Amino acid sequence: MAVKEKTVVIGVTGSISAYKAADLASRFTQVGFRVEVIMTEEAVQFITPLTFRNITGRPVVTTMWDLASEFSVEHVALAEAADIVLIAPATANIIAKIASGIADDMLTCTVLATKAPVVIAPAMNDNMWANEITQENVTRLKKRGFSFVGPGYGRLASGKMGLGRLTDLDEIYGVTLQVLGKKKGDLAGKKIVVTAGGTQEAVDPVRCLTNHSSGKMGYAIAIAARNRGAIVTLISGPTALPKPAGIKFVDVKSAEDMLKAVQEATKKADALIMAAAVADFRPAKPSSTKIKRVDIKDLTLYMEKTPDILGQVKGDFIRVGFAAESDDVVNNAVDKVKRKGLDLIVANDITEKDCGFGTDTNRVTIIDSKGKTEELPLLPKSEVADRILDRVGTLLKKR
Ligand code: PMT
Repeated sequence: MAVKEKTVVIGVTGSISAYKAADLASRFTQVGFRVEVIMTEEAVQFITPLTFRNITGRPVVTTMWDLASEFSVEHVALAEAADIVLIAPATANIIAKIASGIADDMLTCTVLATKAPVVIAPAMNDNMWANEITQENVTRLKKRGFSFVGPGYGRLASGKMGLGRLTDLDEIYGVTLQVLGKKKGDLAGKKIVVTAGGTQEAVDPVRCLTNHSSGKMGYAIAIAARNRGAIVTLISGPTALPKPAGIKFVDVKSAEDMLKAVQEATKKADALIMAAAVADFRPAKPSSTKIKRVDIKDLTLYMEKTPDILGQVKGDFIRVGFAAESDDVVNNAVDKVKRKGLDLIVANDITEKDCGFGTDTNRVTIIDSKGKTEELPLLPKSEVADRILDRVGTLLKKR
């Protein structure tokens, strides 16, 4: 989805966590959104409009009665301009006002007048959050299609621990993109299963055989699919990456675990994209106890083949494989696309600089089932992900 033409309206209300909204405004600005910030009177007590103005490069709305503001003349202009509205942090007070249809300031006017989806990230005292009045308001808003993210558990302004903190910013950002994708994305409603990371095959309870996959390529595909509205299941081997928000996450270790998870997740899938680096071989008889160094001079492991997941998984969905090659990249990949019965294969030369394992960029060639190739330049993995999804989207439309 081209975020460059999209407008996010961020509503900031009076909470100690209002400063965190500056980080959110920055993230949306950096990826190309037009970011319009509306602050309530109370929010201005916690953080200055100047902060948001400098981050977004846009005037910040703090009142309906500023005659110099382009928005005070047409007080619902932001409601109409918004592709999505995010209220972060949202106090109990703003939630109650919205639930009651009150429109007595620029933020509540905008929310009442907008047809854009609204995401609310609550932040308040834990007793205020637990109060039945707040819970009834939240339930009412959810029924009307408002999305909520958080609150989180942790240290509150009162000093005690409880549920009421503005939740993790990655989650707020991810859920907002997901909600926008569901409304406007080209893959809205499509069920896409993505695998990522390397598998681990046990040698004994302590040791395993694995590979250098960081999961970055697969996670980038899962996140891009989510942002385009897909319902994503990410099946991941062990990685150091945070779990992306708004995505069903299944963690696995071995190729055998991954096969089971893929079989389950693809029962109703529209597409399977296998970016995981799955082990081809595993120790045939892993030891149930730790192999002791002192007991043996050297060690030979007898290896057996793991299941070929792409080869075994049945069903009527688009199949995309990756080919991690170190030589004769395209020919090897053409062979794999045919042998594994794939719709597409994404070939990458893992010996090239800035490509393949662990890097933030990749240079890939996409090959279809007829052997037709599309060579892409070196791109960030997020862009490679979008180019792969463009091709998946075209294939899905043809079905
Ligand atoms: O995770 P990163 O650090 O970002 O690195 C990205 C990557 C290099 C791992 C990724 O771009 C990539 O190339 N993934 C595929 C790695 C791989 O296993 O390639 P392969 O050529 O051995 O396998 C071909 C395809 O069959 C792959 O889609 C693989 O997931 C699948 N496979 C492999 C073995 C197996 N037992 N079952 C399978 O389904």
